[in-house]
Amino acid sequence: MCGIISIKGKNAIRKTISGLKKLEYRGYDSCGIAWKNKKLNIKKSKGYISILEEKVKNIKSELTIGHTRWATHGVPSELNSHPHVSMDGKFMCVHNGIIENYKELKKQFLQGYEFYSDTDTEVIPNLVSKFYKDLVNCNPSCCNRRRNSKYSGECYGSKCKCASYCDDILTAFKMAIDQLKGSFAIVLINDYNDKIYFARHSSPMVISKTKDMIICSDINGLDDKSNTFYLPDDTYGVLDNDFEVFDTNSKPIAIKYSNYKGGIENKLSGYKHYMLKEIYEIPNAIELTKDALYGASLTLPKNISQILFVSCGTSYHASLMAKKYIENFAHIPCECVIASEFISSNNLILPNTLGVFISQSGETADTLKSLEKAKSQGVYTLAITNVQNSHITLIADTTVLMRAGAEICVASTKAYTTQLFVLLQLTNYLIGLQQGNFRIISEKIQSKKQDKVSEGEISKANTCVGATELVEVLSKQDCLGISSDDIANLTGLDISTIDKQLDNLVDKIYLHKQFHLIGKDYDYITAMEGSLKIKEISYIFTDAYPCGELKHGTLSLIDENSIVFVIMTERDLIAKTTNAIHEITSRGGNVVCITQFDDIDLSDCYYVIHLPKLNQLFMPIVSIIPFHLISYKITTKLGLNPDKPRNLAKSVTVE
Ligand code: G6P
Repeated sequence: MCGIISIKGKNAIRKTISGLKKLEYRGYDSCGIAWKNKKLNIKKSKGYISILEEKVKNIKSELTIGHTRWATHGVPSELNSHPHVSMDGKFMCVHNGIIENYKELKKQFLQGYEFYSDTDTEVIPNLVSKFYKDLVNCNPSCCNRRRNSKYSGECYGSKCKCASYCDDILTAFKMAIDQLKGSFAIVLINDYNDKIYFARHSSPMVISKTKDMIICSDINGLDDKSNTFYLPDDTYGVLDNDFEVFDTNSKPIAIKYSNYKGGIENKLSGYKHYMLKEIYEIPNAIELTKDALYGASLTLPKNISQILFVSCGTSYHASLMAKKYIENFAHIPCECVIASEFISSNNLILPNTLGVFISQSGETADTLKSLEKAKSQGVYTLAITNVQNSHITLIADTTVLMRAGAEICVASTKAYTTQLFVLLQLTNYLIGLQQGNFRIISEKIQSKKQDKVSEGEISKANTCVGATELVEVLSKQDCLGISSDDIANLTGLDISTIDKQLDNLVDKIYLHKQFHLIGKDYDYITAMEGSLKIKEISYIFTDAYPCGELKHGTLSLIDENSIVFVIMTERDLIAKTTNAIHEITSRGGNVVCITQFDDIDLSDCYYVIHLPKLNQLFMPIVSIIPFHLISYKITTKLGLNPDKPRNLAKSVTVE
């Protein structure tokens, strides 16, 4: 995880700090910056970037590396925060990812070296330093490596007999990264020259060439997003006034720039926290997404036999909801797998499987890795993401973009509800596909209407398991029974009607140590997502169960101190859900019921939260909102920061 930004240009320190602030969503437990003013300098701090900013505020430099950290190896502290420095002080680097073999590398190459931190990263500058020394001392075995290097540039090794062959630092850097196992995005500066060295393996980075040269973990850290180059995986290179990139065989890579307009709206707009702002933005986020989706077409393989959803966290819960929508209405079997599990298991992929990868950020490492794995198995892949030009969009065969706007708070709120809306639309498309409401792409190409498709899409279709044809699904009509009034009710939802019911409840329960959440069918998934929301920001223990599972375990925990949230939004399931309520209240437990029904007796309940009555298909979108608000209110009442919960980050870019 972690965020990296490195700048060569005027006022680099100020710009690096500003970039790090934009990257804080990737981790924020500690941070640091190194810069060069003839000599290398470094400052670090535990906590937010604003603390580091104070330490460097009057310093000027034109060469920096900066890092905001989410701890993996070693506690958050100044010592463990990046940049890390080689023992001789000549090399400094920042790193995103995990070096799995760092202990072996210490034994194999770095005997006698002293390490000051608990991190895996500290081996990197030391390996570069060691290999560099080997090179300038002209160790014959290193010379052979140098002769094999395709790169030719200046040489800093005065004693070296083969000085014309290479940039010794680049060679030493390449020799170091060749030894690393795991995942990494690395940026390194040194005492000998004013170049920046970089490398990536399974951990994204972009390079921006405007009036400054910038290397960054993703485009969100950049002010000017024009002229950005997405570094391909397994590459390394060197940056000065321009930059060069090489593949693992040291063959130069052609540079292709992208232009991206837009970015994170970093404004609170009068709200105290981003979380509250983002909850209130839900109706608008759905409206913008609806406008973008309506009238759009989607390219999918014909004859889909199964849909495989792969995702993490809140996006995984969205996929569980999609499974229900699609199996109920489009009658296509679905499987939902957590991305980290998908990577490490042998999954049975049926012919004609459509892979759907949901990721708000489009940068989650487990989801990206799973996508690559599925593609290598011939699966046609669809990404659903909120971030245009994010890495997932570059890898997937096709993408549907949500238009929720930037989501800054770590806990996902408006993005989740927008995901559900998109997944309902996907269900609609899939029904349209079954009804034959599509155009075969090959026909479109033959008739020379190549506006949205390319020959490449045909060949893509041929590489997919059993998916011999890609089709453009044209279904704009409603196949789900959702009227324009229903949509207007959803996009016109007044969040404050839910909000104003919650303060009394929160006053009574915010000091509780645990909450249980239950529901049936769609409501069970809302219980899971509600449980995640409460625990991730308030640090209160929560669990979620289907109503029918209570009696198989959790009921033993229920007594007069228990608070159990019961979600009840499906009319057919009222009888079974009220049974569960009785099982709880008869053991003294306190039920907080969340429902849109006002014709049932809920007098046994401790508290009832009334939901607006919308089209039944939208109830999962609405019934999660009380949990967004309850989590927010409990967290702020406990004096915690809802936007930046401890130990978590918005975008988890390590496996
Ligand atoms: C992190 C965030 C969660 C998010 C999950 C998946 O854990 O804290 O809020 O649901 O990553 O993120 P993605 O961007 O892939 O949806």
